[in-house]
Amino acid sequence: MRLDKFICDCTGLTRSQAGKLIRQGLVLIDGQLCKQPANQLKPEQQVELDGEVLALTGPRYFVMHKPAGYVCSTDDPDHNTVFVLMDEPRLDKLHTVGRLDLDTTGLLLITDDGQWSHKISSPKHECAKTYRAWLADPVDESAIQLFAEGVMLRGEKHPTKAAQLEIVSPHECLLTIHEGRYHQVKRMFAAIGNKVEKLHREKIGDFVLDANVLAEGEYRALTEAEVAAFVS
Ligand code: URA
Repeated sequence: MRLDKFICDCTGLTRSQAGKLIRQGLVLIDGQLCKQPANQLKPEQQVELDGEVLALTGPRYFVMHKPAGYVCSTDDPDHNTVFVLMDEPRLDKLHTVGRLDLDTTGLLLITDDGQWSHKISSPKHECAKTYRAWLADPVDESAIQLFAEGVMLRGEKHPTKAAQLEIVSPHECLLTIHEGRYHQVKRMFAAIGNKVEKLHREKIGDFVLDANVLAEGEYRALTEAEVAAFVS
């Protein structure tokens, strides 16, 4: 991450204010004077501003529009993780709230606040998640009732909780689920003899991903009000 951005994140200063202080010679990196705002910081480097060591304070909360082809784990030998799309210090402290499959796109929350993510992803809190699914075969109206009653997923002992299905067109549906079992949406459609060809998460709780504002691969910090609304 750039030195001036790191200083903004730690202090709340604007980019131009941070740049001015750097050029004035008030900033040291690992004890060495640095006058270049664009200097790239390594995660382990220590920054001092006017004699004070800077550190990020408070938990961090982000929303990302996840593209296909990225995994939601911190480490994967075979694929890029979603964290390579982020320009933030201490990426090692962040985790995704639940997971989307490698080929699933859409709304992904990222934080370093374990309690917050637990509230959103734990089945006890029943936070609704809405997915847009594109199917190999036309979806029959009877699927609405089947998903509302719960279906048995292969290898599991308990049926899924009531889920709401809206059929948008023969091959396109919106499915809202209230739990987060492994590959749940794909397995629910498999349980009724269909196949998900493409999956996109649009909504968690009342929060809708605005794909017109946040393009695939982009992310932004959540506002305080947005953070609070997920757990209210
Ligand atoms: N259900 C799935 O099958 N895949 C996802 O990525 C999310 C929910």
